[in-house]
Amino acid sequence: MDTTDWWLVKKRTADADGAVYVSADGTRYRRTGGPALRSEAAFQQMAATLGYPVPQVLEHGETSTGTFFVDEESLGGQSLHEEALAALDGGRELSDQVVDQLAEVSSRLLAAQAAHPVDGGPHALRRWVEQAGWTRNVFTENPDLDTRRARAALARATDELTGTPMVWGHLDYGLPNVLPAGVIDWQHHGVTPLGYDVALALEVIPFKGGAKGYAATPQQRERYLGVLDSAARATGRPRVSPHRGAFLLVKSLFFLALMRPPEPARADKHQKWQYRRHLFLKGLEQYERTGNIDTALFPTLDSFASGQDTPGRT
Ligand SMILES: Nc1ncnc2c1ncn2[C@@H]1O[C@H](COP(=O)(O)OP(=O)(O)O)[C@@H](O)[C@H]1O
Ligand SMILES: [Mg+2]
Repeated sequence: MDTTDWWLVKKRTADADGAVYVSADGTRYRRTGGPALRSEAAFQQMAATLGYPVPQVLEHGETSTGTFFVDEESLGGQSLHEEALAALDGGRELSDQVVDQLAEVSSRLLAAQAAHPVDGGPHALRRWVEQAGWTRNVFTENPDLDTRRARAALARATDELTGTPMVWGHLDYGLPNVLPAGVIDWQHHGVTPLGYDVALALEVIPFKGGAKGYAATPQQRERYLGVLDSAARATGRPRVSPHRGAFLLVKSLFFLALMRPPEPARADKHQKWQYRRHLFLKGLEQYERTGNIDTALFPTLDSFASGQDTPGRT
């Protein structure tokens, strides 16, 4: 009999029926949800055998009411997102200590990924664009963005990445899913080019519109990428930073997925959708012009909303 008391942590962001609970003694986390949870648990068990920094799965199955559950060990403490918020001291600058902890976990993840390339077949990169970028959803919700221009830039990104080892990746990697002891929340896992997850962990912060509370400085971003490049070189793999632009082009689609609100739309939802469309087009234009995307040049949601597309402060 299950005698554990469970406390609700939160409803699951990407699964309307799912939730996360913590045991009363804080040693275990339980996820509940639909059948997709079973594949999340199976993936996490496989990733552990590859040396990925993931929580150990302790138990999984189906309850009498047909809900799936997965219990995993607690990685302890707070996510780096929570640590970053707690470390803010009136300003907006991300704490160097959080960047260092991120660099450490990211290097471990990258090393495990580099040691276990997977053969995704000849279409692996194209499939990654579709899966990681949710392209079917994005181009259905935004048919006007499904242009030859957009398709050409995505083809350029996959050309650029040809030959990069393909590995199992997280697809939603960032401070909220990283704890000092490892990486949680593997529901979106898929096959990615090496570096896709880790290279963007600080680059994705501006997509939140400047509302996250913290921002990484250009020095922190360069330093972080430098650590990753060294970690990649140490495994005999090429640097990951040269592909930041190609990775971000796909990520800017991910941030546009599922954003179109049903009509009649609430004004704030409509605006957020328009903002993400704007960021995608801005990134596309930068990638076409320079082969790179600098998210520090993105406007904040507030400056976009007030009609001034000025760079967000970092
Ligand atoms: N194994 C774990 N160890 C420590 N904290 C966890 C663990 N799993 C979940 N959490 C906590 O629960 C929160 C939500 O979990 P997460 O899987 O990221 O949910 P979501 O899918 O909604 O993003 C995390 O931010 C973290 O604070
Ligand atoms: Mg999460």
